[in-house]
Amino acid sequence: MALIGKKAGLAYGERAMKDAPSPLDLLSQPAVHELAQVVRQRRATPHFLPDPVPEDVLNAVLSLGAEAPSGFNFQPWRFLVLRSPEQRARLRAAAFDQAKITEAPAVIVALADRVGWKGKVDEILKTKARRKGRPEKGVEQQKRDALAFIDQSSPAVWLTRQVMIAFTYLMLTAEFLGWDTAPMEGFDPVAVRDILKLPATTEVIALLAIGRAADREQREHPGRLSTDQIAFDDHYGTPWPFPPVPAGDPASPASFIKQSALPVSIQF
Ligand SMILES: Cc1cc2nc3c(=O)[nH]c(=O)nc-3n(C[C@H](O)[C@H](O)[C@H](O)COP(=O)(O)O)c2cc1C
Repeated sequence: MALIGKKAGLAYGERAMKDAPSPLDLLSQPAVHELAQVVRQRRATPHFLPDPVPEDVLNAVLSLGAEAPSGFNFQPWRFLVLRSPEQRARLRAAAFDQAKITEAPAVIVALADRVGWKGKVDEILKTKARRKGRPEKGVEQQKRDALAFIDQSSPAVWLTRQVMIAFTYLMLTAEFLGWDTAPMEGFDPVAVRDILKLPATTEVIALLAIGRAADREQREHPGRLSTDQIAFDDHYGTPWPFPPVPAGDPASPASFIKQSALPVSIQF
């Protein structure tokens, strides 16, 4: 809990941008460094201690998760927090028996409300119109346009796109507050829905265990693709021009990127 409120009052975006000659220098500036640390030190946690997650942490995680952006602001995500050992044992049975589900004191089931989100569209669009001082009469047309646009994409893609952004907000908020997390896709979504008695109109998108890692000292970074394989400049395939790695500076962000580069490309 030591980190709660630590950032209050920091306009870190503005402050850090001012003197920063490159993105990596930007990341080493004190106010931004803290964010970089949270992002880089997060690991998928294989085993958890039983220490409970305080309710104020879960409150913070869920309320910042709700701040995630979504297409048209339609927010089709729903979060079910499982804390009781019985519910977590049921979930584990539908999730390839992953031990972290019963070890971690809290598991958030991130759901898409496949149908119910449409029922909230009027409220969402009217709220926005009111707040922006626009007439509510434009809302009907906006709604038709938005729903027609969304109907063009695959519902699974659209819903997953939205829910995973909120999921990431949950995960990083928990990490920022000093808690460890484990994201999971290893489950049978239909079995999870049945076993947790979820409405048939929900889709289980991902699970997030939160707690204290049992093995915090031995958490190796598993590596990432080198940046030239994933970040491009103007043309796909033209590597983004990251600055060269400063020699002999193991703590620099650029060194981190070099160390964590994998020598292989992933083939799909
Ligand atoms: C959407 C998603 C689903 C995942 N599902 C599982 C899972 O079911 N079981 C598991 O042990 N790890 C799972 N992981 C963890 C990944 O294996 C891990 O994030 C990846 O290897 C990178 O390691 P890191 O998170 O420590 O950087 C999942 C991660 C993500 C983002």
